[in-house]
Amino acid sequence: MSSSEINKEFNLVVLISGNGTNLQAIIDAIENGNLPNVKISAVISNKSDAFGLKRAEKASIETKVFPLQSYLKGGEGRDRSTYGTELAKLIRTYQPKLIVLAGFMLILTPSFLNEFENNQPHVDVINLHPALPGQFAGAHAIQRAFEAYQNGQIKHTGLMVHKVIEEIDAGEVIMTAEVPINAEDTLDILEDRMHKTEHITLVSAIKKLSQSHL
Ligand code: GAR
Repeated sequence: MSSSEINKEFNLVVLISGNGTNLQAIIDAIENGNLPNVKISAVISNKSDAFGLKRAEKASIETKVFPLQSYLKGGEGRDRSTYGTELAKLIRTYQPKLIVLAGFMLILTPSFLNEFENNQPHVDVINLHPALPGQFAGAHAIQRAFEAYQNGQIKHTGLMVHKVIEEIDAGEVIMTAEVPINAEDTLDILEDRMHKTEHITLVSAIKKLSQSHL
């Protein structure tokens, strides 16, 4: 590969905590040629048993596990802020153009975000959140949307990909998708519909950002 081609390569580091179906959607899109200049340099999980790590290994992607609790117990002066700094340092070693939170369930500290906002090269950090902007920030967003529908508070839900800022599940919106809720839906059915939409939307958002890099 020539050096100009390498420069155009859009390296991702993907952070996960669990099943990794969204990671799988990115892997599949790369393998299918739907994300032509994108490469996943590493998958990092804060949970050693995250099934997404197996998905990454199967696709021959480098993996790292960086658990918060064992880090905190590992020495004097360690706290969530230094964890954020160390996680950022680990990510920097892979020289990503974009950091993707795909079901990463830890709140990132200012120490982490500052590293990519204030130091060069600047790297965007994006998050997939299973609710529309301004709705259901935090955990269990799909369940909370389902309950809000049943209480007549909303008529549909949706999801967004957004840039990560200190405020949880907020920040500049890159892409949204509305997801209908039907009267006969169970929570399982809605979750399934949400995940299918997430897989498409996350890949589209990465495509949009990778193309603006060309
Ligand atoms: C996804 O539904 C994602 O939107 C959600 O975690 C799930 C991960 O699924 N993220 C959040 O709730 C972040 N606030 P996956 O591990 O199968 O990709």
